[in-house]
Amino acid sequence: MKITVVGAGAVGATCADNIARKELATELVLLDIKEGFAEGKAQDMMQTAALLGFDTRISGSTNDYSKTANSDVVVITSGLPRKPGMTREELIGTNAGIVKGVCENILKFSPNAIIIVISNPMDTMTYLALQSTGLPKNRIIGMGGTLDSARFKYQLSTHLDCSPSDLNAIVVGGHGDTTMIPLIKHATWNSIPVTNFLNAEQQEKVINDTMVGGATLTKLLGTSAWYAPGAAGAALVESIVRDEKKLFTCCVSLNGEYGQSDICLGVPVVIGKNGWEKIVEMKLSADEQAAFNKSADAVRNMNDVLKTL
Ligand code: LAC
Repeated sequence: MKITVVGAGAVGATCADNIARKELATELVLLDIKEGFAEGKAQDMMQTAALLGFDTRISGSTNDYSKTANSDVVVITSGLPRKPGMTREELIGTNAGIVKGVCENILKFSPNAIIIVISNPMDTMTYLALQSTGLPKNRIIGMGGTLDSARFKYQLSTHLDCSPSDLNAIVVGGHGDTTMIPLIKHATWNSIPVTNFLNAEQQEKVINDTMVGGATLTKLLGTSAWYAPGAAGAALVESIVRDEKKLFTCCVSLNGEYGQSDICLGVPVVIGKNGWEKIVEMKLSADEQAAFNKSADAVRNMNDVLKTL
């Protein structure tokens, strides 16, 4: 198994570190445009191999895509991160050109790769990757909902004083501060609805804190978060390479599912060796469906900006 992570910044490097520690690949390539940067990160990570006991060979490359040849999975993290006060949407102009170029270069050397998109604005970058590559839709996966669902579980766990991994909770819709939809009515603590334990005010707080999860960290850190985004990317890689068929919320191409078409948006999907293998349709309440449609409208407006670039 060969995996490439494009972009050796904080998110890309954390994702690669998780992939190596879990031994998801025999070969792992980290690529960046900044001279020597990916090579440095790769060497630093390789020097943890003897300490952590993993057997993945990590190498770095300064923009030489031939080194990524025959990758099975490629994670794209390239582009500018958010600065405090910035929305993910403001990155579209710069990141669209970068992501499009990365996809072209990747496919020259790895025509069969499954692509995971992390770059922001993630819903639009996933749509762009799908449109510009013309790849089968199952091979393009946007990571956003996986991260947002993990943040949702974290917020719930602080109120319930429980383990985040004992929770089942998903965020659907867009990966934006106002477009994501934490489905609190469907969330459970080991199958007991969390609404049994949280009053309306607490539920509202969990939802709001989840939605601004990324922005809160950007403010605290001065740049975008990386541990959870990197781990979310690696969790998807794991489900693909081990063909786990786990259910994640990911941004995928919709063709009528959840009442939407010609858009990539976060919905529950099964992730396995073929990429996203199935969209799982769940019954949304009228309010939830209305929120989903509103989210789709906002993402569609953002996708329209691509036509003007
Ligand atoms: C975040 C970025 C990665 O939500 O979108 O932290």
